Amino acid sequence: MVARPPLRFTIDTMELADIPAVHAIERQSFPVPWPAYAFRQELEANRLARYLLVRAGDRVVAYAGLWLMVGEAHVTTFAVLPDWRRQGVGRRLMLALLDLGRELGAETATLEVRLSNLAARRLYEQFGFRPVGIRPRYYSDNNEDALIMTTDALRSRPMQARLAHVARLVAQDDEEAAIAGIGPEEGDTPERRGSGVGSDEP
Ligand SMILES: CC(C)(COP(=O)(O)OP(=O)(O)OC[C@H]1O[C@@H](n2cnc3c(N)ncnc32)[C@H](O)[C@@H]1OP(=O)(O)O)[C@@H](O)C(=O)NCCC(=O)NCCS
Repeated sequence: MVARPPLRFTIDTMELADIPAVHAIERQSFPVPWPAYAFRQELEANRLARYLLVRAGDRVVAYAGLWLMVGEAHVTTFAVLPDWRRQGVGRRLMLALLDLGRELGAETATLEVRLSNLAARRLYEQFGFRPVGIRPRYYSDNNEDALIMTTDALRSRPMQARLAHVARLVAQDDEEAAIAGIGPEEGDTPERRGSGVGSDEP
């Protein structure tokens, strides 16, 4: 068996140069993808918007964004490259995104998700998002309803405990991948990589 070099996951702020890679994931992830210029506009002109991405080595494998609106972090988009799904990348990214929202002063986080998108809903539930309403016929391609999901206060104890639990799962993923020789290098904790939600501190 040939040993593979350890792959390091990093979380970065999205830059204009990342848009082609991000847009490739967007096209593979959504029936009505945002055009590339929408990302450019978000990065250049929307002062309320923040976008993060995950790199595996040099490759962009996931991205997500939020708008900071009246104390609320509204998740605008969230996607993982198909080949990289079910490997904890989405979990890693949401951890970083909620940490960023909290740092920016958001009290809660909210998002819309297709009712039928059970993969995303399960991921969001891990982070304490719960259904609070429906936007009827929100998605124009098939008139599907959107489920509105919201978290409790990001700084509340239960929410912090939940985030700390997810951070432990991410650290566990890293340990297992390091042993298998396919993941981040040993000792490369979520805090060091910038997700920041690796502790119980409120
Ligand atoms: C939804 C999405 C972001 C999940 O990303 P991912 O990297 O595969 O998720 P993770 O591997 O981190 O999984 C974390 C948790 O999410 C849930 N989950 C993820 N994919 C799932 C699936 N296909 N079925 C059921 N649960 C799933 C599980 O609870 C999982 O935890 P577990 O591994 O302990 O069971 C990814 O499938 C995606 O990009 N989909 C297309 C775009 C999209 O729908 N975005 C959301 C728009 S609202």
